[in-house]
Amino acid sequence: MFSGTPLIDSTQQAKYVQLANQIRDAIQTGQLMPGDELPSARQLGLLFEVNRHTVMAAMQNLVAEGWLLSEVRKGYTVNTQLPVIESVKISQQAKVTEPIVPQFAYAVGDIESPSITQYKYNFAGGLPDVCCFPFDEFRRSMNRVCRQANASLLHYQSVAGEHVLKTQLLHYLRAARGLTCDDILVCNGSQEALFLIGQAFVQPGQCVAMEALGYPPARKAFQAAGASIVDIAQDQHGLCADSLAHCLSKNDVKLLYLTPLHQYPTTVTMPVSRRMEIYQLCVKHGVFIIEDDYDHEFHYSCPPLQPMAANDPAQIVIYLATFSKIMFAGARMGYVTASKPVLKQLTALKQIINHKNDVLMQLAIADWMASGNFERHLRRMTKLYRQRCEVMDKSLRGFQAQGYDIQYIKPQGGMAYWVDLKRDVSQLPKKLLQAGINAHTEQNFCHSPRALYTHIRLGFAGQAEQGIEQGLNALFDLL
Ligand SMILES: Cc1ncc(COP(=O)(O)O)c(C=O)c1O
Repeated sequence: MFSGTPLIDSTQQAKYVQLANQIRDAIQTGQLMPGDELPSARQLGLLFEVNRHTVMAAMQNLVAEGWLLSEVRKGYTVNTQLPVIESVKISQQAKVTEPIVPQFAYAVGDIESPSITQYKYNFAGGLPDVCCFPFDEFRRSMNRVCRQANASLLHYQSVAGEHVLKTQLLHYLRAARGLTCDDILVCNGSQEALFLIGQAFVQPGQCVAMEALGYPPARKAFQAAGASIVDIAQDQHGLCADSLAHCLSKNDVKLLYLTPLHQYPTTVTMPVSRRMEIYQLCVKHGVFIIEDDYDHEFHYSCPPLQPMAANDPAQIVIYLATFSKIMFAGARMGYVTASKPVLKQLTALKQIINHKNDVLMQLAIADWMASGNFERHLRRMTKLYRQRCEVMDKSLRGFQAQGYDIQYIKPQGGMAYWVDLKRDVSQLPKKLLQAGINAHTEQNFCHSPRALYTHIRLGFAGQAEQGIEQGLNALFDLL
């Protein structure tokens, strides 16, 4: 005989749902078997202390789901077609044996989700100061697009991005970066673009060349496509052309990933001569270059160098940019320009993965850009970050004057310094964490292990001047 437990008032679930759950559980565990008749609605009402309407609602749900049959004059019976005995066996076995371990195609590694709010001082390398984002302005853009929401835009079409946003981005790229491309693919951050490029170009076992000290999420995206990563040496001008030439002559390299404006993590700006050498080598070997221009806006010493994509007669440069530094990473807004066939392939892949980007966010950003508020925000933030860059320089020089043996080259732009602390920093992360300081040391960026790690990357954009100074004091106390 079916016996239930009393229904609870305080749960979030309606009583008829609780009752249906209990009957369903009783069938799944074999307490009620196919063909069994259920007590009458009146009896069930008494048993569970609910009225008849609640019982009927629960029964109708279970009939609709296929657990019960309703027969005239017979009442409700458990559906005879249910393979209950087999599923009872499986659930009993699952209780005594281990669950089946999934066999994945490859090991992706752990999910990293650092909480930036847990730190007192934040020197995370590319962190923008979100407190300075003009939320009121942006809310007005959001409000406008919601008020004028056009139903035809809210469906699945326009995989590559909303026309109004693409128009704004193409105009911006022409004006601010000298890029005269005629099409663009809007992505969920540049990370999605990296993943798509890996999928589009790499077959398992082929190689992607990267700076030996590089951007780990890019490496992971290429490895997800089955790529072997080949490290290329770097010097004070960025990636070394002779090391690249050697690598290209020895390996089946499909792609070269570069951050030429502000090398990640060393902050070096690659001079034009080196860019040309690298470009020529890639043309010779048929290798496509991914130019990740992640913080182009923030260059202080002079106007930023034009991207490599601005002079690309062989059409081998795939150019990426992001709004994660201009706005914040949670906006998940990035974009790619490349030759027509490359963009077509990436767009078709993007459609498979997630159809398109969030339409309202795209429209709001387009509205924000068209209003002129975007350019004003960029000017404000460039000025602010330039000041913070100076503050960090002054503080670091102060520590040198106090006798700390450290060395660094002041970056021409970007959001971080790369500082040689001239000592082994492999144990420093633990101490930094204990002191509430968020900063990354050299080992975080190396693909191949090294005998000695001595550098730290110190972001200056994400916190106010006082935080930079106090945080550096706390950090140097640890040394
Ligand atoms: C080298 C580099 N590329 C790209 C990005 C931005 O990635 P996304 O647009 O996926 O947020 C970052 C952010 O930290 C970065 O450091």
